[in-house]
Amino acid sequence: MAEHKLKTSIAILGCGEVGSTLAYTLVLNPICGEIIMVDPKKALLEAQVRDLSDATYGGRSGTKVRAGTHKDAGQADVVVITAGAKQKPGESRLSLLSRNLHIMSSIFKNMQPISPTTILLLVANPVDILTYFARKLSGLPESQVLGTGTTLDSARLRGILAEKAEVAPNSIDAYVLGEHGDSQFIAWSNASIGTTPLHLALPVCLTPEFKAEIATHTRGAAGAIIAAKGCTAYGIGNVAASICKYILFDAHTVRPLSFYQPELGCCLSMPAVIGRRGIIRKMPVQLNEEEQTELEACARGLRAVLEGAEKELSA
Ligand code: 2OP
Repeated sequence: MAEHKLKTSIAILGCGEVGSTLAYTLVLNPICGEIIMVDPKKALLEAQVRDLSDATYGGRSGTKVRAGTHKDAGQADVVVITAGAKQKPGESRLSLLSRNLHIMSSIFKNMQPISPTTILLLVANPVDILTYFARKLSGLPESQVLGTGTTLDSARLRGILAEKAEVAPNSIDAYVLGEHGDSQFIAWSNASIGTTPLHLALPVCLTPEFKAEIATHTRGAAGAIIAAKGCTAYGIGNVAASICKYILFDAHTVRPLSFYQPELGCCLSMPAVIGRRGIIRKMPVQLNEEEQTELEACARGLRAVLEGAEKELSA
């Protein structure tokens, strides 16, 4: 482990609430030798690096934090892109597309050349659309470009179901799939608590009304937090840090991540095995008819957004 930590580096592009929360999470739970923070706001960048470094001096973390450039980031083992505008209360993630697509395209221009083994983790929203373009702009193999996707939505879902079922969230197998956004859907037909199908494990009947209520809570979780505090950071920061760990430790963990789905012509979240090479393989999912219809509708919506964005990017 000590040898491993000395060698690896994680670059975090964007030192706002999400980027700095991710960095702090990585300082407290060290998994790499170096965190490279990158941000065009130099004063903010220096302050975040100083503040984060103060958290490493306590001896708990073998991780060093430093300011770097996009060029430095291009040579890191993992690059996490959090840079971009954030949702305002009531704003959808998709409404950030134009601003964040332009920010991301300038990031990639400045990063080149990117090491051929770098893994790109998209966090900025709309994450599915940005993941799609990051593949093209980075020139990296598809398996090395992924987004946090519905991993956070699935964690939120498991939290809600855990409360209803009075079991620990990590005992619940339930996935939100598709868009990290309004067209996401819950794969109810696959949901279980261990070997017990969810509909047998819950003390309440899994009626369509109950499922709709849970789906609304899950889908609206971020909006409620943003309305009250202006952003989300701890949930997404923890998810991004966990995914960095699965990559650097070659954990072969299964998570619903956003990555390119050739048969759907877009990036959206499906369960995948994640390790040092990024997406190791996609895990087949058996969806019922209703869920398959939701998946296809989700993909149609994302493709429509992609078509508009392609025009804007090539303009
Ligand atoms: C979240 O779901 C805003 O996409 C972010 O917390």
